[in-house]
Amino acid sequence: MRQIKPNVYAVGAIDWDRRLFDELIPLPDGTSYNAYLIRGSEKTALLDAVDPTKSERLIENLVKVGADQIDYVIAQHGEQDHSGAIPDVLTIYPEAKVVTNPKCKAMLIDLLDVGEDKFVTVADGETLSLGDKILHFLYIPWVHWPETMGTYLEEDKIFFPCDWFGSHLATSSLFVDDEAVVYEAAKRYYAEIMMPFRTAIKKNIEKIDLLQIEMIAPSHGPVYDRPEFIIDAYKDWVSDEVKNEVVMAYVSMHGSVRAMVQHFVDGLIERGITVKQFNLPATDIGELAMALVDAATLVVGSPTVLTGPHPVAAYACVLVNALRPKTKFASIIGSYGWGGKMVEQITGLIGNLKVELLEPVIAKGHPKGGDFTALDRLADQILDKHRELGIAS
Ligand code: FEO
Repeated sequence: MRQIKPNVYAVGAIDWDRRLFDELIPLPDGTSYNAYLIRGSEKTALLDAVDPTKSERLIENLVKVGADQIDYVIAQHGEQDHSGAIPDVLTIYPEAKVVTNPKCKAMLIDLLDVGEDKFVTVADGETLSLGDKILHFLYIPWVHWPETMGTYLEEDKIFFPCDWFGSHLATSSLFVDDEAVVYEAAKRYYAEIMMPFRTAIKKNIEKIDLLQIEMIAPSHGPVYDRPEFIIDAYKDWVSDEVKNEVVMAYVSMHGSVRAMVQHFVDGLIERGITVKQFNLPATDIGELAMALVDAATLVVGSPTVLTGPHPVAAYACVLVNALRPKTKFASIIGSYGWGGKMVEQITGLIGNLKVELLEPVIAKGHPKGGDFTALDRLADQILDKHRELGIAS
């Protein structure tokens, strides 16, 4: 338990040991579930709760801060890593009302079986007075669920954006103390969680640009006491601009695809293009997602297994398709033994991407002279496309 401003306390939990979120997302640096106690002159509010596995830590912190009474539990988001401990909080503070929006209320009833009579719903822009502190609720849909809302504490100029601007980072530092470290963690978080909602985030940034913000207190990771650091980073990530970069994501079984990748990547580097190469069976998918935040081009490399792509390549394509990066161009390189529909299947798996598909290069068996020439041609074409965008010289 620590104070971030007078009578505003961080009472959440650090999860040093968690290494996987949603049984999918790697957490190399753990995470935190931030909750905040805001004590006004008349009422006290708890802003979000924690993951149910950390319920005890939240309750301990509430005891430490001397929270004899909680009048309101503000639920900004229905996902259980923030809402899961609400039933435990309501058991200890039965007089508390859950303040949220109608969509989130419905989710909390569905997900946590919270009683209908426990809720007070608020509209976008509505306020709640705690006495000398007033909470302003701001709907910020799709960061990253449809019901998410943020809270602005005008008296202290703190914006609580829930998941938005967060980072999966277990740290003893309450505030950002190393911007380079937090930048990486926040970019990873953006790539994995927020990237599919780039357009909605642009609109939400316009909304908060109207607020005077001195501090951003997210629901994961450290608090930003220099908010422009993370707002500017987000403006860059959600912009339509791409960089002179190729993400080369591949898998190779017997070396044919590896030989193609090596030749192709060398060619891209010789043409002045930055390459981020991922051997998919050994890749942290968070690193792959981060590379896709900026890259102009994605190339998938795969052998043919049975009639389609290698399942590891197919898995990566499904993820990329779900993350919907702003990538402009895509291609496929690979090999086959006796036939198959690898190119058609990969193309189908990345159907959400608004990309121009560049001519794939598929070798029969180990690549030979003509295949390497085709790879050189693809590298030339990528350079031309990047030049047309004005990102390559
Ligand atoms: Fe951190 Fe969407 O939950």
